[in-house]
Amino acid sequence: MGLLLPLVLYALATCCVATSPLMQTLLPTPLLSLGCNSSEALGVAGFALQDINRDRTDGYVLSLNRVSNVQQHRQNIQGSVYYLTLDVLETDCHVLSKKSWKDCEARTLHETVYGQCKAIIYINRPSRIIYSPAYNCTLRPVSRRKIHHMCPDCPSPVATDLSDPRVLEAATESLGKYNNENSKQYSLFKITRASSQWVFGPSYFVDYLIKEPPCTKSHISGCALQPSDSVPVGICKGSLGRRGTEKFVSVTCNFFESEAPTLGVENSAVNQEPARLPKVGELQQENPTPTDSPSKALTKGSVQYLPDLDDEQPEDSTGQVPVEAFPVQLDLTTNPQGETLDVPFLFLGPMKEKLVVLPFPKGEYHSAECPGPAQMGNPLVLPP
Ligand SMILES: *[C@@H]1O[C@H](CO)[C@@H](O)[C@H](O)[C@H]1NC(C)=O
Ligand SMILES: *[C@@H]1O[C@H](CO)[C@@H](O)[C@H](O)[C@H]1NC(C)=O
Repeated sequence: MGLLLPLVLYALATCCVATSPLMQTLLPTPLLSLGCNSSEALGVAGFALQDINRDRTDGYVLSLNRVSNVQQHRQNIQGSVYYLTLDVLETDCHVLSKKSWKDCEARTLHETVYGQCKAIIYINRPSRIIYSPAYNCTLRPVSRRKIHHMCPDCPSPVATDLSDPRVLEAATESLGKYNNENSKQYSLFKITRASSQWVFGPSYFVDYLIKEPPCTKSHISGCALQPSDSVPVGICKGSLGRRGTEKFVSVTCNFFESEAPTLGVENSAVNQEPARLPKVGELQQENPTPTDSPSKALTKGSVQYLPDLDDEQPEDSTGQVPVEAFPVQLDLTTNPQGETLDVPFLFLGPMKEKLVVLPFPKGEYHSAECPGPAQMGNPLVLPP
């Protein structure tokens, strides 16, 4: 008898882990809610984010702050379709660096841009297929007002649209310094981020993409290989500070890993190419195909940047939380029964199997263990 009790307790414990998905059969759809700190949820979220970052050509790599909701839909064929809601943070790496989000540094609180992504991803482990048909994200900068409260001297963001000439001046002065010191002739492609701070005088900090100069006569042979419209080759961080009439300029540049020249022939279905699952323990995934062809047949998703929430929510209207602070729309179908998705390119065999996708599940269905623990738990950077 004395032995039985621990056994019964053990059985209860395992029973309840096992039944929580069963309870979900009461839902109108065949979805299972996963715990947001489970290794399955975290693994799937990692793949989804990797896919989102790889798909983008603009902006900074997004990292996972926490998993907010995961619904699993087991398919009649092997594998499952997952519906993910992820709370994300912008990192310091530009997407063109092609770095994995796990290798990118989070930003300090005052320069954080945060938000939410929804993604739909099919994972078939036996066949090692990962395929994400769609994602969408919405981001906002951290509240300037609240940051100013905590840190009145922190740099504050400045528009990168060149409405402030001192932003452009900081970029050109710092790039000039880089070119001088390295006998190079890179030119400015685009300013991607800017902020200002009072140090001994006004100081501007900028991130900008650089491109190679157009062909010069001395490189005639190399010219034919150059694409007609130039692409960014690296990203620089520069600053320009003033103290009286003195100027202080700093610059560091990082170059993107150069890609093999693509001849534009074998790229037709690139966007639909599924990724192959890495072997167990091999977290870093090789880029299986040249996925960054500039002319994409299909758009899988987009990242929408909205202004500071304070700008939409003036201080006097406290208590009036907007209906949805981070609206993210992601529906491949509106049919509650779901729709089949034709994905012949996913399966190598003769069987042309189909995925079933459902309308994106609404937030009311989630596991008790959601959202999961956050990397950066400050409420200022967590979507409400
Ligand atoms: C993603 O968002 C865009 C704009 O916010 C919207 O037009 C598009 O339909 C969304 N994608 C899906 C699959 O819902
Ligand atoms: C999440 O999971 C990790 C690893 O299993 C565990 O160490 C951690 O305590 C969990 N956190 C929460 C909040 O449940």
